[in-house]
Amino acid sequence: MTLAIGVDIGGTKIAAGLVSEAGEILDSVAEPTPSDATKIPAVVADLVDRLTGEEKAAGIGIGAAGFVGEDRSTVRFAPNIDWREEPLGQQVAALVDLTVVVENDANAAAWGEFRFGAGEDTDDLLLITVGTGIGGGIVHRGRLFRGGFGVAAEIGHMRIVPDGILCGCGQRGCYEQYGSGSALVRDARERVTNRDPGSEAIAALADGDLSRITGPGVTQLAQDGDPMSIDLLGDLGRWIGEGAAVLATILDPSVIAIGGGVAAARDLLLPHVIEAFETHLPARAHRPQAALRIAALGNEAGIIGAADLARTEPTTSRGVA
Ligand code: BGC
Ligand code: NA
Ligand code: ZN
Repeated sequence: MTLAIGVDIGGTKIAAGLVSEAGEILDSVAEPTPSDATKIPAVVADLVDRLTGEEKAAGIGIGAAGFVGEDRSTVRFAPNIDWREEPLGQQVAALVDLTVVVENDANAAAWGEFRFGAGEDTDDLLLITVGTGIGGGIVHRGRLFRGGFGVAAEIGHMRIVPDGILCGCGQRGCYEQYGSGSALVRDARERVTNRDPGSEAIAALADGDLSRITGPGVTQLAQDGDPMSIDLLGDLGRWIGEGAAVLATILDPSVIAIGGGVAAARDLLLPHVIEAFETHLPARAHRPQAALRIAALGNEAGIIGAADLARTEPTTSRGVA
């Protein structure tokens, strides 16, 4: 059995796993993402060392939360990590004796869901990952769609509100400013700051320090029945659904899966996504409609997909030790 290593580099956490050909994670480790991005390759190399030990892996796949170039090594830009033209694949390959391939984090997750999760029954999948930002991955006719320059499916930066909130990409009104976990947290903090009636439970979470209000925290409150948190997740779901309708207009996927941390809210989120999706889908009565579902692999989709890409993708970067 060929094992491969999958690594998922997000804004808050770097997670790595040893993955089987069947997409099972046999062992996993994680570290916080260092605020100094130049330290990321060393953290990745350390996680890889901890995973390999006696086992020999076929290669490393890295899912990175940014715009990955066609060389499958360079992160050209990231809105939520300090990366500019970063030769990430080469840097990691220089520290470990394995082949490295870099893919956008949401693309890797979409590949994982397509092979082993929410997209197993389709050839045309759109994955929308909802976390710090919004990521997108498109599988078209069984292949990952990368566009002309490798940076397709940056759906988090689709403009959804003219002249809206400023985004880390430099534009205004991006989808991820309205439909991401960060947007949920921003809105929750705003309600507390404004002392909105009904915001008491969220205020108690903050206990005087707004930074204690997190996405998982608000989701938990909603699951415990707090009306305002339920409301906030409803708003979030509607934004996600509205964007999904625009994307379906272009891509016509047969399955749209919602992944990322916020997908843990499931039934508090999905009905609102579906309702907004149906409301905004052009000529809805006259077309087959995509199945909207919560992704199956949770936060492990990126690791599983990246590892699978490391095994199957020919384009790789080698270190020059
Ligand atoms: C980035 C994407 C990434 C997504 C999810 C966005 O802000 O532009 O590259 O896939 O966040 O991490
Ligand atoms: Na993507
Ligand atoms: Zn943007």
